[in-house]
Amino acid sequence: MRYKDKIVLITGSGSGIGKAAAIAFAKEGATLIVSDINKDNGLDTVSEIINNSGKATFFEADVSNYQMVVDLMNFIVDKFGRLDVAINNAGIGGDYAKIADMTLESWDKTMLVNSTGVFYCIKNQIPIMLKQEKGVILNTSSIAGIRGLPNAAGYSASKHAVVGITKTVAMEYAKNDIRVNAICPVFTVTPMFDPVAMDKMKSGISEKLKANVPMKRFADVMEQVNTMLWLCSDEASFITGQTISVDGGLTA
Ligand SMILES: NC(=O)c1ccc[n+]([C@@H]2O[C@H](COP(=O)([O-])OP(=O)(O)OC[C@H]3O[C@@H](n4cnc5c(N)ncnc54)[C@H](O)[C@@H]3O)[C@@H](O)[C@H]2O)c1
Repeated sequence: MRYKDKIVLITGSGSGIGKAAAIAFAKEGATLIVSDINKDNGLDTVSEIINNSGKATFFEADVSNYQMVVDLMNFIVDKFGRLDVAINNAGIGGDYAKIADMTLESWDKTMLVNSTGVFYCIKNQIPIMLKQEKGVILNTSSIAGIRGLPNAAGYSASKHAVVGITKTVAMEYAKNDIRVNAICPVFTVTPMFDPVAMDKMKSGISEKLKANVPMKRFADVMEQVNTMLWLCSDEASFITGQTISVDGGLTA
């Protein structure tokens, strides 16, 4: 029960890593604010938590819409009076194309959701945490935030930006007892990264990607979530400004 009585926000918690994290944090006692652009999926996460005797509320928000992000943080303060842990996890994959073939729309959208969305969230989370004189922020970057990922320049650039924001904000607010870190997942089986669907588009691609990972497999979603649970807890109380790659050795 590492999160007993803690108020925890996870964006993009209607699916994949965010959903599994919301369920796991709630099991450890947290009160969850489940937020997603997809209302039905977000409400499903909340139902699953409540059916397991956990505490959760849904708030619909598109992280690339500044006013919605402001409304989300105001909702949290009005309803709970504090925000102990904020996990900025919502993200999109963007176009799978070499840069010459990448559309302007795809580039702009990927940057807006994955990078600017994290900026909008942190900008509005920090004042809440400054008032409490404590807080934890965890951003979901990617191995593509550490190294290049061919056919995904927009995604890779957007996730490198998340690493830059993480390190800088960590330095700005370390003295205020606000920790800011990022996890950098490798290929993790979720609706965003579905090896079966990928193989249908390009036969054999998933085996090729797997072969590049030193541990020769994809990550299980709980391997990301267990790292999040630890990194946001007091067990990691002196860790800030770090990017933790959960990647079977890929970025080594
Ligand atoms: N799955 C992987 O292999 C992998 C690897 C590295 C990093 N990541 C990152 O992990 C995070 C979670 O990915 P996932 O694999 O769980 O994907 P997912 O598609 O299963 O979940 C992403 C969630 O974000 C939500 N979302 C998308 N755009 C949004 C917006 N504008 N506002 C609010 N919510 C929005 C979606 O509705 C969805 O519920 C993402 O940031 C992703 O880039 C995933």
